Amino acid sequence: MSDFQLTRTLDENTAEKALRTDVRGGLTGSPKKLPPKWFYDARGSELFEDITRLPEYYPTRAEREILLERAREIATESGARTLVELGSGSSEKTRHLIEAMPALETYIPVDVSESALRGAADTLLAEHPGLKVHALVADFTRPLRLPDSPGPRLVVFLGGTIGNLLPPERAAFLASVRAMLSPGDALLMGTDLVKDEAVLVAAYDDAQGVTAEFNKNVLAVIDRELGADFHNAEFTHVAVWNKEHEWIEMRLRARSEAVVKIRALDMVVPFRAGEEILTEISAKFRQEGVRKELASAGLELTQWWTDAAGRFALSLSVAEGPVD
Ligand code: SAH
Ligand code: TRP
Repeated sequence: MSDFQLTRTLDENTAEKALRTDVRGGLTGSPKKLPPKWFYDARGSELFEDITRLPEYYPTRAEREILLERAREIATESGARTLVELGSGSSEKTRHLIEAMPALETYIPVDVSESALRGAADTLLAEHPGLKVHALVADFTRPLRLPDSPGPRLVVFLGGTIGNLLPPERAAFLASVRAMLSPGDALLMGTDLVKDEAVLVAAYDDAQGVTAEFNKNVLAVIDRELGADFHNAEFTHVAVWNKEHEWIEMRLRARSEAVVKIRALDMVVPFRAGEEILTEISAKFRQEGVRKELASAGLELTQWWTDAAGRFALSLSVAEGPVD
């Protein structure tokens, strides 16, 4: 018997309600937008795994390089008995960390994708039969109640997922992470770094069209969950670098004029030819910016590691000042 538990904090009703609210709000306004967490049904999670293996998508390889090099240091510095991972997905890279953590007893992966959590736990428990895995199906942008587990805790947030949040969302998110940390706990966070525009755009618009499939999957989710007919319209994937904000914008552009019906919302959404839906941003960072954002949330940057090519960074931070 392996030690696996899964807790759902998002029942189907709540998730469906949230989807309705997000879709109604996002497609009524101008410009149209959809929040990224709806990409990740089982198919979306699989497509994301395919993205991580694309030649153009360097962040996963760069982050793995840093993790492999620093796993021991991270393990020693944190001495963690509990590892909490937000947006854990397949937990692929996290395995390198887990292997380097002799004191680790409990792993708490948190993700909106139950299929990803189950797949990750299967693989992990086969390799670490002594590990307790308590998976949490939850939205990390909402208040989280973590299961009781021994300290010290290391909270990890990999994949540059912090960059998928808007600056005010990042501030709220980091403050909530800070509130999870007791003295002796730490946060390990992956951030993709600002670099040449062509390299960035290629990472989000690959030659094989996997990222395009991933982006369009959000429409398939809405078709299935809310009885919409996006499948009758044609959308193209667009990735552009926003120089001012230093983020990539992923959009879906209507090829021609279209009217999309969303049955469950009793709603009709008109599109002009060329009109776009903003589906996701992926912000790119510089060390000073990361340090400042952490500091604003009461976190002090203690380590900053990049891959040899300087494309991606992992930072370690701790709660600063008196912890309440
Ligand atoms: N950490 C993995 C996966 C990154 S992709 C890696 O580095 O490769 C982002 C992950 O976060 C996906 O698994 C997705 O399902 C999850 N996710 C996205 N938004 C979320 C949210 N609001 N709450 C919880 N999980 C979320
Ligand atoms: N956190 C990943 C990133 O920003 C998520 C991601 C990768 C993504 N490729 C994508 C999101 C394509 C939407 C579309 O790099």
